[in-house]
Amino acid sequence: MRSRSIKIASLFLLGMGISEIILRLKSAPQDATSTTREVQEDTEKRTLCTMEQLVQGKWTMGAEKYKPPYIPTPGERQQKTCRGFDPSARWQDWEWTPEDHSRCDFLNSDIDSNLFCSLVRNKTIVIQGDSISFDHFLSLTHLLGVPVAPPARVPKDPLRVSKICNGTSMLIGKKDFHLQQVGRIINEFHPDVMILNQGAHYVSDEQLIQHLNSTVIPHIANWQDECVLEKKDCHFVWRSTVPGHPYCTQFTKPAESVEEMETIIATSPQYNWDKLKGQNELVMDLLSRSSLLTEFNILDGYPINILRPDLHGPKKNDCLHTCLPRDNIYSFITLHLLRLWSECGPETG
Ligand SMILES: *[C@@H]1O[C@H](CO)[C@@H](O)[C@H](O)[C@H]1NC(C)=O
Ligand SMILES: *[C@@H]1O[C@H](CO)[C@@H](O)[C@H](O)[C@H]1NC(C)=O
Ligand SMILES: *[C@@H]1O[C@H](CO)[C@@H](O)[C@H](O)[C@H]1NC(C)=O
Repeated sequence: MRSRSIKIASLFLLGMGISEIILRLKSAPQDATSTTREVQEDTEKRTLCTMEQLVQGKWTMGAEKYKPPYIPTPGERQQKTCRGFDPSARWQDWEWTPEDHSRCDFLNSDIDSNLFCSLVRNKTIVIQGDSISFDHFLSLTHLLGVPVAPPARVPKDPLRVSKICNGTSMLIGKKDFHLQQVGRIINEFHPDVMILNQGAHYVSDEQLIQHLNSTVIPHIANWQDECVLEKKDCHFVWRSTVPGHPYCTQFTKPAESVEEMETIIATSPQYNWDKLKGQNELVMDLLSRSSLLTEFNILDGYPINILRPDLHGPKKNDCLHTCLPRDNIYSFITLHLLRLWSECGPETG
């Protein structure tokens, strides 16, 4: 039987950061030296940022490096969306820094592939949705060192399977603007992690919610049931949608105020970008009310990448897609989720 309390419990734990609770219990003051002990523990093993802590932050300039994190393969369109990208030049980039970064841990500038691979051993991760989701997939394959050159003719809705971590695990990218093929991908690949998004290809609120509620959520719920039967520790992630940035070519650095960006988006409506904030909220509300789902996680790109009007290319008619080697935040958050899940341990009961 499905239990709503399990879902609430796992959300609660993710929200609070179970490691934080454990650490607090461990270091509960007992004597006068407890303060020093707490500080020591804190520097030795800082707790991971909760997802709530993670989204509160700002973009800060990182250290200079010898080279870019990777070079997009020819044909990956995002190569064209970078302003003055020079593969041989030194590299300096903005890094997402949570407000609480002195108190909690978030790896914001690279993927440690040994760490990543230790967390996904034998697992299959699916990233499915629009072209931004496909970029998330491409970014991860590059950061894990397994880019696959696209075929000369890229199909409109490509499916790409990458063996990662010395072939022990799989990363699957599926372009599927309106999430019509969630059932097919589950049947074909039996994933352990599903990261979905629908949003930038606008449909009305009613259509969006109706489709998610009557098709996508039931597929995910069936998959979650199968995972329980197969004793697999599966996780469902919904990535929120980030609107494009009107007048993007005028920005040369990240913005600091979400409100300011929202005002620009609201006062220059195009491509329904002004409606995406409301749709994100509708979807989150639907997911949290659903009695079918046993678990879900939100990869909330909105408050982070709404601050990146500078991340688009020189072409002013594409203020939605981002410069691929500069936009890896969803990959970093994917690793962060894997770390949070491994701390929580598989659900029991
Ligand atoms: C992959 O295999 C190589 C050679 O066996 C090894 O050095 C490396 O650590 C492995 N990488 C991962 C992520 O398992
Ligand atoms: C991976 O899965 C295979 C078959 O499903 C199993 O034989 C193997 O022991 C697993 N390896 C690890 C490290 O879990
Ligand atoms: C979603 O579907 C359930 C049935 O599974 C139904 O009870 C509920 O009213 C639907 N919600 C919306 C917002 O359509």
